Amino acid sequence: MERAVKLNDGRQIPVIGLGLFRSEGENEAENAIRYAYEAGYRLFDTASYYHNEEAVGRGLQMLHVPREELFVTTKIWTDEQKSGDVEGALDRSLKKLQLDYVDMYMIHWPVRECFDRVWEEMARLKETGKVKSVGVCNCSVSYIKRIMEISGVLPAVNQIECHPAYFEKDTVDFCQKNQIVVEAYAPLGRCKYLDHPTLVRLAEKYGRSEAQIMLRWELQKGLVVIPKSVKQHRIASNADIFHFSLAPEDMEAVDQMNEFRRVIDLDPKTMDI
Ligand SMILES: NC(=O)c1ccc[n+]([C@@H]2O[C@H](COP(=O)([O-])OP(=O)(O)OC[C@H]3O[C@@H](n4cnc5c(N)ncnc54)[C@H](OP(=O)(O)O)[C@@H]3O)[C@@H](O)[C@H]2O)c1
Repeated sequence: MERAVKLNDGRQIPVIGLGLFRSEGENEAENAIRYAYEAGYRLFDTASYYHNEEAVGRGLQMLHVPREELFVTTKIWTDEQKSGDVEGALDRSLKKLQLDYVDMYMIHWPVRECFDRVWEEMARLKETGKVKSVGVCNCSVSYIKRIMEISGVLPAVNQIECHPAYFEKDTVDFCQKNQIVVEAYAPLGRCKYLDHPTLVRLAEKYGRSEAQIMLRWELQKGLVVIPKSVKQHRIASNADIFHFSLAPEDMEAVDQMNEFRRVIDLDPKTMDI
């Protein structure tokens, strides 16, 4: 399996990244970034909403590696979208991250009232060089269709909640059919399902952890995964998913775990455009 996939704008994104939500203790983000880099991660996912962009910036600086080795994503929060100053929000994030550009700037949650304007502004930001790719999060099919109507620039990625207990096949299929990479957030289901009998059985069968089974299932569905951890051994083990593969019948067994139960309180479908 390839370690990176092609985006619809011609760039490449690693298939595994480090999620940084709630990496907020002293030096937690900095250390997690170092552990992750050493374990082979090159994609790092933060957001202005996580209030850790300064720490993430420090962690990235401390790696002392060429900028082009890294794929850094951050996101614009809803109040920043409503304020109308999208470029100002990006500039604040860049300053905190100590970066000249982000690899991907994303709409964190779509805001119905200003969605069209914000997307047009995001697409324009690519021309400034401060943003290499643009993406969205939490967008249902209706939002993606809206973008197709109003803009010549498609999101390179739609980052949505995805794990065995919550898999929105219609959205994933629609995005993949339209060359939009689906990035799975909360890919471990925030660890609420690690004791599920199917995962326990498959972990035993493959000699792998339950978390690795979940992440491997997601990779085999063509998703990019961004598990979060601040613990060195978990960060390493979450990335060690390239040397085994789930048999078709085991992929199907994990498919059966879908309860359509989100671990995130907000449901994008309630905010449809
Ligand atoms: N766009 C959005 O709206 C959105 C929403 C949510 C998340 N995200 C992104 O997606 C990333 C991942 O999602 P998430 O953080 O919500 O949930 P997650 O990655 O599914 O789960 C993270 C939790 O699992 C634990 N964990 C990690 N590896 C483990 C392992 N191998 N065994 C047991 N426990 C393990 C972590 O604890 P320790 O840290 O203690 O290991 C943490 O409590 C976020 O960090 C963020 O970057 C985006």
